[in-house]
Amino acid sequence: MVQLSTSVYLLGGLLGLLLSPVRMAPTPASMCTPLKTLNDSLSHRRRYMKHNFPIAYTIKVHQEEVFKLSNINRMRLQVEGLDELVLQRLWFQVNQGVLKKIIQVMPERHPSRPYATELERRFRDVEGVFVQSHPAELFQQELPETIQEIWDNLTEESDRVPESSWRLASPKSLLDNFCHTMHCLFSECFASTEAQQDYCAVSHWRKGRKKPSHPES
Ligand SMILES: *[C@@H]1O[C@H](CO)[C@@H](O)[C@H](O)[C@H]1NC(C)=O
Ligand SMILES: *[C@@H]1O[C@H](CO)[C@@H](O)[C@H](O)[C@H]1NC(C)=O
Repeated sequence: MVQLSTSVYLLGGLLGLLLSPVRMAPTPASMCTPLKTLNDSLSHRRRYMKHNFPIAYTIKVHQEEVFKLSNINRMRLQVEGLDELVLQRLWFQVNQGVLKKIIQVMPERHPSRPYATELERRFRDVEGVFVQSHPAELFQQELPETIQEIWDNLTEESDRVPESSWRLASPKSLLDNFCHTMHCLFSECFASTEAQQDYCAVSHWRKGRKKPSHPES
């Protein structure tokens, strides 16, 4: 009995080794320049994504597009050994949709349109470097089940998404999430020389706020 379970265990371990994903440094250094350029654009998000929109303006997004630090932290707890690269791929998938939806609601002459299209261009630049700096097989790798379900929902055709799965979110709050999760998932590019910062901690982003209890953004 002991022998059997040991060999099953060994076999499992061996299979696990064979099937284990290609692991690499999560963020190639080449991504840091375009990420910082994107970060520069994001620093103007309040001006362009809040002030030029009606008060309490929201857009309809997939519930999975409300992608916050807490979602990342939850996924890390739920999926054992979750590869950072999987989260990074998901981040690109989510935010591609977010940017598209923000741009879609803006008329051609909207004062924030040039900002939003530039943001999207810079996002594409980062994505281009991301794709180039990893082997193609990596993008064919099967995703953990939980992540695959999120992915499937994100890519579901709009008319097949049940009404209860849509969320209303302000453009500014979507870009806040975009920015915070970027710092968390690509922290090597944003690491400061001072005390170690945990960009994935929700509290890190709260402490800078003037009115933490205000239900703003
Ligand atoms: C990212 O942008 C913020 C402003 O939103 C700035 O304080 C920070 O220094 C930038 N980080 C890098 C690494 O460029
Ligand atoms: C995917 O969408 C379905 C239907 O809207 C929902 O019930 C389910 O919870 C979603 N799954 C995930 C992982 O978000």
